[in-house]
Amino acid sequence: MSATNRTFTMIKPDAVANGHIGAILNHINQAGFRIVALKLTRLSLAEASEFYGIHRERSFFGELVEYMTSGPIVAAILEKDHAVADFRTVIGATDPAKAEEGTIRRLYAQSIAANAVHGSDSDENAAIEGAFFFGGREQF
Ligand code: RTP
Ligand code: MG
Repeated sequence: MSATNRTFTMIKPDAVANGHIGAILNHINQAGFRIVALKLTRLSLAEASEFYGIHRERSFFGELVEYMTSGPIVAAILEKDHAVADFRTVIGATDPAKAEEGTIRRLYAQSIAANAVHGSDSDENAAIEGAFFFGGREQF
């Protein structure tokens, strides 16, 4: 299957700590995504800094890395037609206060920093991010 039909997500530390893993995975399945790869893991400072390297110069970078390493996360590769764009619609705006009703961030996020889930922003980044967490034998 083509990589253009895949996206990458993380359930972030706040949502894991608040017991939302099951509800969010169910939401993702109900929205028509197939889970290709899945794991519970925790990012080191170096891994979080690399993963979010594009934001290195932003004012919130230190806060972002500290937050993303504060506890375990769930990493997953998801498959669906138009996966990247459709998943961004399912998760809603970065700031949960601005996210549409019924989106994952509106339902489960705490704040703009602790916003429950990550979603890749392009097919290229989806492939890079998926490969960051999963080898070929972990993808189904
Ligand atoms: P993500 O990459 O996690 O899916 O989020 P996004 O595309 O909606 O937002 P992005 O601009 O890529 O920002 C990445 C993450 O940085 C945190 N952030 N904090 N305090 C702030 O003003 C601020 N702005 C962004 C969020 O956790 C955001 O998801
Ligand atoms: Mg982003």
